Amino acid sequence: MKHWRIDDVPWDRFDRTKLDPELVSLVKAAAMVERNGVDYGTYLNRVFIDDPDFCAAADRWSLEEVQHGDTLGRWAMLADPAWSFEDAFARYKAGYHLPLLDAQASVRGSRTGELIARCMVETGTSSYYSALADSAQEPVLKEICRLIAADEFRHFKLFYDHMKRYLKRERIGVWRRVMIAAGRIGESEDDELAYAFHCGNTPADATYEHSRAIAGYMSRAMGVYTYNHMARATSMILKAIGLPPRGRLYNLAASGAWRLMRSRRAKFRKICPA
Ligand SMILES: [Fe+2]
Ligand SMILES: [Fe+2]
Repeated sequence: MKHWRIDDVPWDRFDRTKLDPELVSLVKAAAMVERNGVDYGTYLNRVFIDDPDFCAAADRWSLEEVQHGDTLGRWAMLADPAWSFEDAFARYKAGYHLPLLDAQASVRGSRTGELIARCMVETGTSSYYSALADSAQEPVLKEICRLIAADEFRHFKLFYDHMKRYLKRERIGVWRRVMIAAGRIGESEDDELAYAFHCGNTPADATYEHSRAIAGYMSRAMGVYTYNHMARATSMILKAIGLPPRGRLYNLAASGAWRLMRSRRAKFRKICPA
């Protein structure tokens, strides 16, 4: 059962005077990546083929991700009536394929590793939609981002609970878990988001240039974060790795992550001023 449906969104409260074009461009990109969640659901079903409980949960999860995409896509078309979600998504699908689409086992080396990587993605999405909800002035977008953020926090818990179960069997050491988490966080600068930003925000014949697209996306996306969003995300990352999510290490990690994000954002803004 989904926790909400697209028709639950108060679409009639849409207020064009409160639109922020920077957020519109981010929403267009997010809509495509979310809708592509169905491919990731297929992959998870292969990786966890003999675990029917997890496969059923992964199927429900991917339906929720697709709903995130459809909801964001509908909002983006309200905000920019000249924009077609279908056309942009078709372009995205034609040019971007999940690199793990043909993998039969987890590309993270173990099921525990796969679930840690999923926890990193849900940490990223829960903090991002919380930040977007806080930043958005347009009331419908604000509500959509609140609904999606609540789903993403639940998704984190789903993968975290299954990860704990597999960790008991697979006994992956903490250093390996740190490396898997760091690897997945680093992948956020790969083509998945960059190409979505490109397809959502450039004319159909525009040439894709990774460095420009990721800078355009990240300089805007990082701009909606506050220290508190980053601190909560840091606590979730530490928890998923199996390190204390509070205390001295957390304080150091949260302030370090915040400084790193600010400097990355400054670098991206130089490449692609918003
Ligand atoms: Fe999502
Ligand atoms: Fe999610």
